[in-house]
Amino acid sequence: MSTVAPVPPAVVENPRTPHELAATVRAFAARRELWEPLVRFTRPERWYRRLAVGTDHEVWLLTWLPGQGTEIHDHGGASGAFGVVRGELTERAFALPGAEAPRPPRLRGLTPPAVRAFGPRHVHQVTNPGPEPAVSIHAYAPALATMSYYADTGDGALRLVRTDGVDD
Ligand SMILES: [Fe+2]
Repeated sequence: MSTVAPVPPAVVENPRTPHELAATVRAFAARRELWEPLVRFTRPERWYRRLAVGTDHEVWLLTWLPGQGTEIHDHGGASGAFGVVRGELTERAFALPGAEAPRPPRLRGLTPPAVRAFGPRHVHQVTNPGPEPAVSIHAYAPALATMSYYADTGDGALRLVRTDGVDD
């Protein structure tokens, strides 16, 4: 989808690091007028919309009905940050694919104003455990081009399932 909003002022012009991306997410989260009117909830596919795009980053609005979630995925080498602005999300963060000593995924419950930032090799699964619908804001640098999806073969060891291009 096309750009619908300029990057809010007081945000790093071209966020690159996880810390800068977290600042971008917080700035959008605080500007509710930029995203609240856009919120929709859909089933079976989750609803999402790109809020902004810069020269080397982008910001997305995602919604999650209870029980909706992602597969286990990476971000194709992009760094990112996401913040929960309504409801609750659960993140399972995995060890790197191919790790010699896989560990069970780390589980975090995230409620507003929690923001999670991550580097280019982060692998996770995000789910709305319910009972309320959830809304989140995500920033990536560079813009997402591909995402790889994984299966948990036990105790957090990952097997690559497929790599998809990301359409906008
Ligand atoms: Fe993700």
